[in-house]
Amino acid sequence: MIRLKKIKIKGGFCLKGNVKIAGAKNAVLAILPATVLIGKVCRIENVPDISDISLMCCVLAQIGVQVRVVGKNSLEVDARHVSNICADFDEIRHMRASYYLLGAMLGRFGEAAVAMPGGCDFGLRPTDQHIKGFEALGAKCDVTGGITKIKCDKLVGNGVYLDVISVGATINTILTAVKAEGTTIIENAAKEPHVVDLSNFLNSCGADIRGAGTDIIKVCGVKKLRGTNYQVIPDQIEAGTYMAAALATNGNITVEGIIPKHLESITAKLEEIGADIEISDDSIRLMSTGKLNKCNVKTMPYPGFPTDMQPQIVALLSRASGTSMVSECVWDHRFRHVSELRRMGAEISVDGRLAVIEGVGELSGTNVKASDLRAGAALIIAGLSANGSTIVENTAYIERGYENIAGKLFLLGADIKSIDEEILEKVSSVL
Ligand code: EPU
Repeated sequence: MIRLKKIKIKGGFCLKGNVKIAGAKNAVLAILPATVLIGKVCRIENVPDISDISLMCCVLAQIGVQVRVVGKNSLEVDARHVSNICADFDEIRHMRASYYLLGAMLGRFGEAAVAMPGGCDFGLRPTDQHIKGFEALGAKCDVTGGITKIKCDKLVGNGVYLDVISVGATINTILTAVKAEGTTIIENAAKEPHVVDLSNFLNSCGADIRGAGTDIIKVCGVKKLRGTNYQVIPDQIEAGTYMAAALATNGNITVEGIIPKHLESITAKLEEIGADIEISDDSIRLMSTGKLNKCNVKTMPYPGFPTDMQPQIVALLSRASGTSMVSECVWDHRFRHVSELRRMGAEISVDGRLAVIEGVGELSGTNVKASDLRAGAALIIAGLSANGSTIVENTAYIERGYENIAGKLFLLGADIKSIDEEILEKVSSVL
């Protein structure tokens, strides 16, 4: 496999055509560790081919779980034997979702030890609400030497009120509650589509979870779980990213294989900015009206506008007419893409969690660096709509969450390529 290190884009080409959206990264990143709780053989379909998933498979392999590729985008996970309930190795520190092993192993074995997770750097990423969930069900937690250790004699269902709406804490509490004795009620739960998908996966294995997708989730503990075949939902952030890119380039594209309802807050904002939208059962067509209007955006937990689309919308608004304001209400520090967009000519000022964007009409291509996954996607959108050439560096971040982004954009008409591929072409022409 060729590792993308840099992406080179020549701006100014309209995106046109159809693009098939991959399975949801954040759903699979919860479902794969959840197989450890199930402890049987599960087949997971519509798994995106991205590096975060490969990393999660390495993590599972290191604790003794067997993961096999059984078809395009399909994995068979055999978690009957887990050889190591202490997950303390490098891969864990590189991804946030590894903390789901805490809930999954606690639920199955009554104990777990997992190195503190890494992931994208948006400032402090506390885990107090995860611990609140574990402790409410009877576990004792201790963080020493960078490792979270949890243990219980017995898990007993309880009420858990989350002080902040947290996707991770909601999922970890569900995982802990599935086999606990009695009923757990999670209040102020996250309502994201991937919380619902994880719950549907667990229910298909015999769990009894109701209310996922609302802010009160009820989990009645069950004694036994079974293996399943499960198809993961499509990735609404990947779809939204291509739609924002199409609007930025005055394009006309259809994102296929999606659940339009999951994109409602995104399509509403893209319409306000200047898109005509046609929605069908499993696709959305976006047609540019040729205008980019200013727009104010506030990121919120689902069904609000997702923080994971904030950098892409900032890139789009940097060329809109007038002044737009974007408030980041989920993460403390998620504006690291702004300094790179400024290097391309954007006029954006940031004050804490607020970005004020004076639309500039034109951006100019240059060398920029991705600081995280969605920041990288934003720079690609900016490059597609800028004058001249843009080189986006650190694209390993982008590979964490977008399947073959350069290839998909190329098929939509973008002038885009990975520089590593260029090098390979030159080498093979010499040979
Ligand atoms: N929070 C706490 N205490 C906790 C947990 C969270 O105060 O114990 C706070 C966080 O500091 C943050 C807010 O709650 O201010 C929301 O955090 P959440 O727990 O919901 O985030 P997460 O589960 O760590 C997931 C996604 C992120 C996405 C957020 C918000 C995964 C693997 N990651 O993170 O996705 O930004 O939810 O929707 O599911 C991405 O895909 O690019 C990405 C970063």
